Amino acid sequence: MKETAIPGPADVEFISNEEPARTPVAQPDFETVASARYPRRAILRGGLGLAIASLFGSLPGPVLARQRGSNGATGLLGFEAVPVSRADTAVVPPGYRIQVLLPWGEPITGTYPAFSTDNTGAEQAMQMGAHHDGMHFFPFAGSSREGLLVVNHEYAEPRLMHRAAAGLGLISFDVPLREDGSRDPDQVLKEMHAHGVSIVRIRRDDDGQWLPLRDSLNRRITALTPMEFSGPLRGDPRLQTAYSPDATRGRGTLNNCANGVTPWGTYLACEENWRYYFVREQGEIPASLSRYGVGPLNAWRWHLAAANAGEAADQYARFDATPRADSPQQDYRNEPHAFGWVVEVDPFDPANTPVKRTHLGRFAHEGAVFAPARQGKPVVLYSGDDSMFEYIYKFVSAQPYHPASASGALLDEGTLYAARFDSDGNGEWLALVPGANGLGPESGFATLADILLNTRGAADVAGATPMDRPEWGAIDPGTGLVYFTLTKNTRRSEGQAEGVNPRAQNAMGQIVRWREAGNDHAASAFTWELFLLAGDADSGRDLQGTALSAENLFANPDGLWFDADRRLWIQTDISDLDLHKEPYQAMGNNAMLAADPDTGELRRFFTGPPGAEITGCITTPDQTTMFINVQHPGASTSAQDFAAGKIDSHWPAGGKAVPRSATVVITREDGGKIGA
Ligand code: FEO
Ligand code: CA
Ligand code: CA
Ligand code: CA
Repeated sequence: MKETAIPGPADVEFISNEEPARTPVAQPDFETVASARYPRRAILRGGLGLAIASLFGSLPGPVLARQRGSNGATGLLGFEAVPVSRADTAVVPPGYRIQVLLPWGEPITGTYPAFSTDNTGAEQAMQMGAHHDGMHFFPFAGSSREGLLVVNHEYAEPRLMHRAAAGLGLISFDVPLREDGSRDPDQVLKEMHAHGVSIVRIRRDDDGQWLPLRDSLNRRITALTPMEFSGPLRGDPRLQTAYSPDATRGRGTLNNCANGVTPWGTYLACEENWRYYFVREQGEIPASLSRYGVGPLNAWRWHLAAANAGEAADQYARFDATPRADSPQQDYRNEPHAFGWVVEVDPFDPANTPVKRTHLGRFAHEGAVFAPARQGKPVVLYSGDDSMFEYIYKFVSAQPYHPASASGALLDEGTLYAARFDSDGNGEWLALVPGANGLGPESGFATLADILLNTRGAADVAGATPMDRPEWGAIDPGTGLVYFTLTKNTRRSEGQAEGVNPRAQNAMGQIVRWREAGNDHAASAFTWELFLLAGDADSGRDLQGTALSAENLFANPDGLWFDADRRLWIQTDISDLDLHKEPYQAMGNNAMLAADPDTGELRRFFTGPPGAEITGCITTPDQTTMFINVQHPGASTSAQDFAAGKIDSHWPAGGKAVPRSATVVITREDGGKIGA
């Protein structure tokens, strides 16, 4: 059947992989914060350094002492800044070189089918997924020459994946529909298989080139891979489906954004914008769906392939969460409850069934960042909920960490907290447990399972601070300070702009950092400060309060990672719809910068091609190879241009090639450490 670009219900609201509109609940009364020691205007006048000094002047610690004593370079950043770029290429500083590795569609397992836009859904399951995001390099025995590269595939760009989409007026997030309004089952299968995680053995050859190996450890995890639930929701009736009447199993992982690495050497893939895959057409919508935006509109419309899919109908129909049968064990009304979790994968065991760890909460998880594990102490991890006015969370395990016995079971018992950032620079972790912080039968959260299934609703009740879209976190290996990116929040009003989220109509974003009380990551209180305000020379400020300049202006911090030498790597994700437009005109393409956490010195290190975001960051143990990801090059292409065959990027192959997300390998010509 002929493909068309019929505007479906999705086109009304879903214009990108952004989050839905939401009115914040549990808003603090901003009129009563007159006593705040951290006035917003001081920051906007350029007094960030001053404000920080007044906030933290009484705190001990080498970070702050050196910060006050230093005015410039400490030598941590040893590279020359790269300029803003609008070119269709990836740029690194002089003395550095790049290699493109494992682009979308590269064969990695099974029969190793070669990449082509004509690949079938079945072939995609043997190839790298699309939209590379969070990533880790698991070295073999500490090697910096060989290991497993594990890559999240956040989503896909259907118009680039299906030959039938050529010539249609589609934007990056649109899906081709048949004339009867249904979807083609093999197209949907291909999209499902482009999601998930890839595990690939890679090795550096003697010329310094990294090569994927054909290896039995290579694996694709997709939107169809069988998974187990663990923790408090395992067996809960609200996870019952026709696929798993006993509520212990589910199929697949979706929208895997940032990642985590456990102290015991497994990989965590986090489920972010999963709500876009589901539809609930009628009936009362429970808070565990409505609080996450699941309703009658849906972007991917995978369920519309069911009617044409014969015996395979069930794998598509499950994305329709409308009650269709007499009981939840006969339909998929509960399928959205199977998403929004953190998924643990053992990359060294290809037969391992991934596990969804429900005690880590259900929301739009960006990533999961662990505090350094200490023998005999609880395991602590942080995770942001990437939506406007959502929260930052922390999990503290009930059982102590012992390297010899540590496993994912540590994540099944403990306490989940949400953060309250007070405007005076203090903060508190609010336990999300029945009987605390207003949670209990009277507020609709009688049990821990009630809280974890609707984590957002529980954090509303507890009074957590609605943030400017929490993205990645990172922990300074030298000081233990925790950093989080807050990418932007254009819906924040003047009356809501205060403290840690100081700007109304915040188009640029900021980075916050905090010290846990007693430098104990399991503590229930902390002190925070802003590390920087993203923006241009007018609106951006570094740690010293100095205006950002040509070598470091940027917007929308997202990826965040500390290397072992304490360089803070910051990656940007200006939406593909906003790139090269005001107020982002000055920023050009998305970029990666490095910062000195002591002085706040900040410098642009990398620029990507048009339409792409930069995300995912890890080095080999010796820090001489860095892996980052370029996600969705060309996604900024308008529907009109796409229909005319004109695409904003042809990276990485160039010429007329279809753009492909890929890993970029960065090395130095002299073999030195990256960034030094
Ligand atoms: Fe998938 Fe929050 O970026
Ligand atoms: Ca993305
Ligand atoms: Ca991200
Ligand atoms: Ca982002």
